[in-house]
Amino acid sequence: MNHHTKKIAGVLFTSVLLLFAAAWLPSGKSKSKAASASALPANDEQNNNSMQAMFNQGRQIFRYDTFGDEDFWGGTLHLHQAIAGEKLGGVGPGVSPKAALSVGLKVDADALPASLVEQIKAGKVNLDDPATTLALLKLNSVVGVTGVFDKQGKLEGMGIQCALCHSTVDDSFAPGIGHRLDGWPNRDLNVGVIVSLAPNLQPVADLLGVDMPTVKKVLTSWGPGKYDAELNQDGKAFQPNGKSAATLLPAAYGLAGVNDATYTGWGSVTYWNAYVANTQMHGKGAFSEPRLTVAQFPVVSKSHYNQVRNSDDEITSKLGALQFYQLGIPAPKPPDGSFNKEEAAQGKVLFSGKANCARCHVPNLYTEPGSSLHTPEEIGIDDFHASRSPTKMYRTTPLRGLWSHQKGGFYHDGRFQTLDEVVAHYDQHFKLQLTDQQKKDLVEFLKSL
Ligand code: HEC
Ligand code: HEC
Repeated sequence: MNHHTKKIAGVLFTSVLLLFAAAWLPSGKSKSKAASASALPANDEQNNNSMQAMFNQGRQIFRYDTFGDEDFWGGTLHLHQAIAGEKLGGVGPGVSPKAALSVGLKVDADALPASLVEQIKAGKVNLDDPATTLALLKLNSVVGVTGVFDKQGKLEGMGIQCALCHSTVDDSFAPGIGHRLDGWPNRDLNVGVIVSLAPNLQPVADLLGVDMPTVKKVLTSWGPGKYDAELNQDGKAFQPNGKSAATLLPAAYGLAGVNDATYTGWGSVTYWNAYVANTQMHGKGAFSEPRLTVAQFPVVSKSHYNQVRNSDDEITSKLGALQFYQLGIPAPKPPDGSFNKEEAAQGKVLFSGKANCARCHVPNLYTEPGSSLHTPEEIGIDDFHASRSPTKMYRTTPLRGLWSHQKGGFYHDGRFQTLDEVVAHYDQHFKLQLTDQQKKDLVEFLKSL
């Protein structure tokens, strides 16, 4: 190639490059097209739309679906009558908004019309009157509780939702009133006290084979932020030490990638959703569990929860979207200034180093990919709650978002009041010989997750 042809080739090459560049560098018009979703291949777009629809549907179910459980909470227990009170066609004094808030029920401020918000602010709404509670129920603003009203506006039934236990509000309007925070466990909610208000607890007494005072004693022993999701399987209401058998309400966020759900790893998220909707909320669906044997779970001989089949199934078709929604909720990030950054950085090193927490709490799931179950001895605690599960084990708790549910304590039953106590327990059990500063560093790291 002589000098001349080299030059021509160079010019040609440059022009080809420029041509390519012109084709690739989009003009204003094609650029906006590339940015819009419609530029996606048809199948990708279809999947995107499906994802969004499923997520929205899951949110709706999580917040508002009763799965037909009003036949139990209203129809059988008549809990709505205790809420309405005698004056409004129910029984007893009724439940005022103040009383409802005091047992930890939450109000969704976004469901309140602006006029009502103004009235509340002006102190013109009677928060001591059960009629106001009924008005809030009519607005669908009581988180996790749905009122069923007849044509005359009388409360004739009620149902509950997942959001009752697994959502709270951000208190932006007032304590207990604000925007919804789905997936956050409601550690103020006193489920037992609420259920104990039900005028007809006889079916519960019959199922458990105990008298009414015992049922009430059990329900009021749970305390705020706790529920016993195994009581109506094995009938065990108290630990050998006399404390309640109830567990803390866990987070229902940050579960994507987490294999084993519940404190004892009963199954996957969708397994447990079916368990709860059918056997705890008393919705109408289908559920199969051969591990619910009469030997370990004696109540099953009466409840037959090992094999549930309702002809009017209102649960099964919703499980997909419900699971998808929970997996889509990220663990909340800790607010600025809520932990010491330098100490947390030291704690991070300890977590995977000297303290060896990462052996089980594998970053960044903070539980084990694969099997995350451990014997009670491994983590140095008693086997009471583990023995109430088919696994007989405890699951490594995923730790993200830990900062947001410190109320009520830690471990399944809240036995450790603070993170310091948790770390002190591990220090002793695993003979870690952490210095006071190292313990503090670990705690700050835990608060940063
Ligand atoms: C009455 C309160 C209550 C209601 C209502 C409730 N749950 Fe739960 N949920 C609990 C408790 C308590 C546990 C822990 C049980 C255990 O580990 O023994 C739990 C556990 C879970 C877990 C496992 C979390 C983890 O850390 O692995 C998920 C997921 C969950 N619930 C989702 C739901 C969904 C979805 C619904 C509605 C279908 C629902 N729950 C209704 C109280 C409730
Ligand atoms: C052998 C596995 C294992 C090791 C090692 C381990 N954990 Fe755990 N961790 C668990 C299990 C299992 C639970 C659930 C206990 C329960 O709920 O009763 C748990 C629970 C916790 C909790 C309570 C979470 C909650 O929401 O209640 C914290 C905090 C925690 N671990 C931090 C640590 C720290 C810090 C270390 C290191 C010092 C550590 N873990 C080491 C298995 C382990």
